[in-house]
Amino acid sequence: MSRETLIDLLYLFSATTFVLALKGLGSPKRARLGNMVAAFGMIVAVGATFFKYVDGHALHHVGLIALAMVIGFIVAVPTARYVQMTAMPQLVAIFNGVGGGAASLVSITEFVHVKATHPATYVALEVLLGVLIGTVSFSGSAIAFAKLQELMTGRPITYPGQQILNGVFGLGALALIVAILIQGSTALLWILLILAFVLGVAFVLPIGGADVPVLISLLNSFTGLAVAASGFTLGSNLLIVAGTLVGASGILLTRLMSKAMGRSLANVLFSAFGSVVSAGPGAGAEERSVRSGSPEDVAVLLSFASRVVLIPGYGLAVAQAQHVLRELAEVLEGKGVEVFYAIHPVAGRMPGHMNVLLAEANVPYEQLKEMDEANLELQTADVALVVGANDTVNPAAKDDPSSPIYGMPIINADLAENVLFLKRSMRPGFAGIENELLYNPKTTLVFGDAKDTLTKVVAAVKSA
Ligand code: TAP
Repeated sequence: MSRETLIDLLYLFSATTFVLALKGLGSPKRARLGNMVAAFGMIVAVGATFFKYVDGHALHHVGLIALAMVIGFIVAVPTARYVQMTAMPQLVAIFNGVGGGAASLVSITEFVHVKATHPATYVALEVLLGVLIGTVSFSGSAIAFAKLQELMTGRPITYPGQQILNGVFGLGALALIVAILIQGSTALLWILLILAFVLGVAFVLPIGGADVPVLISLLNSFTGLAVAASGFTLGSNLLIVAGTLVGASGILLTRLMSKAMGRSLANVLFSAFGSVVSAGPGAGAEERSVRSGSPEDVAVLLSFASRVVLIPGYGLAVAQAQHVLRELAEVLEGKGVEVFYAIHPVAGRMPGHMNVLLAEANVPYEQLKEMDEANLELQTADVALVVGANDTVNPAAKDDPSSPIYGMPIINADLAENVLFLKRSMRPGFAGIENELLYNPKTTLVFGDAKDTLTKVVAAVKSA
C-alpha cells in the first residue's frame, strides 16, 4: 500500500470518528464518550498529516508547526479545564473565532502564494469564500466574546439604517469576490479582508448578549464552511468532511435553539431582542404581594410529598448549586419521595447547559426528563421546585400573545400542586419580563442564593 493510500485511509477513519462523535454528543449519556472518540480521530488525523507528502516533498516547516501546537496546547488546555461553567459560551465563541481566523489565513496564504508563483493562474471561488466566511466568523466571534465577557455592553447596539448598511457591506463583499475572480488583484483581496472583518462586527453588534449563544452556534456553522472551503483549497478530503459536518450541525443546532426559544432565526438575528426591557404586566403599578417562605417550610413540603419535580435554570449555574441539588434529591429519595429533574432545552445560557451541569454533579441520567416527557407528569406532581429558572417556566409563553416569549414551549411548573421558587430577588430572567407564576397563590418564594438555600433545605429535610 502506498503512503498516500495509507494516509487517505487514516483520514477516512478520522472522518468516521467525527460522525460517530456527533451521534454520541446527541445524548447526555454518551456525550463524554463521543467527545473522546472525536479527540482520538483528531489525533489520528494530525498524526497522519505529519507523514504527508506535498508535491512529492515531505511536509514543510515541521518544527514551526510543532511549536504552534505546543503553544496552542499550553493556552487551550488550562483555559478549557478551569473555565467556569457559566463562562462556557464565551470560551466556545473565542475558540470558534480562532478556527474561522485560521481558515481565513489558509485561504489568504494560498491566494498570495499562487499569485506570487503563477500570477496568471485563475483563483478559485472557494479561496475567496474561505477568506470572507472565515473572517466574518473571526470578527463576529470576537464581538460575541466581548459581549458575553462584559468587556462591552451586552445590549443590542443599533442605529438608523443599520440593516441596510449591513446589506450594503454583504453585497459589497460579494461584488469584490466577483471582481477578484475576474481581475485576480491582490489589492482587492486586502479590501475584501477588511470588509469581511467589518461585516462580522456589524452583523453581531445589534444582537443582544442573551441571544449571543444562538449566534455563536451560527458562527460555528460559518467556521465549518470556511474550513470546508480550506479543504477544497488544500485538496484535503478530511477538511472538507470535517468542515461540512461542523457547518451542518451548527446550523441544525441554531435552528433547534431558535425553535426552543419560540422565535425564528430571523427574529434572533435582526430584532435586537433585549434592547428595551419589556415591563410586562403589572410593572409600574403598585407593589404586588407574593408569598415567601423559609428553607424549613420548603423542607416540610418536600418531605411530605410523594412526587417532586426539580426544575433547574440559569440561576443553578450561577449559584453552582448542582451538587447540593443532587444531595437533596438523594435525601428525598431516601425518604421514599419520587424525584426527577425536568430539563428545558434552553434552560441556562448554552445548549445542554443543565445536562452538563447535572452530569458534573453525577446526577443519574435516568432522572433527567426532557420537557415534553416532564410536562406529562407535572400535573400529578405534588411539588415543582424551581431552582434559578424563570423564563422557562413562565406561563406568559402560553397565555399572553403580547409577551415577547409567547410561543416558547415551557415546562408547565404551574400544573404541579405546589410551586417553590428559589431565587434571590423579584428580578426577571433573561427575557426581562415578569413571571405571573411568582404571584400565583400556590407559589412560595424562598429568597436567597440557591446554594445557600438548598444547603439549609437539605439540613432541615435530614433532621425532619
Ligand atoms: P432565566 O429566565 O434567565 O432566569 C434565571 C433566574 O435565576 C432568575 O430569575 C434569577 O433571579 C435566578 N438566579 C440567578 N442567580 C441566582 C442565584 N445565585 N441563586 C438563585 N437564583 C438565581 O433562566 P432560565 O429559566 O434558565 O431561562 C433561560 C433563558 O435564557 C431563556 O429565556 C432562554 O431563551 C435564554 N437563552 C438560553 C440559551 C440556551 S441555549 N440555553 C441561549 C440564549 C438564551 P434573581 O436574580 O432574582 O436571583
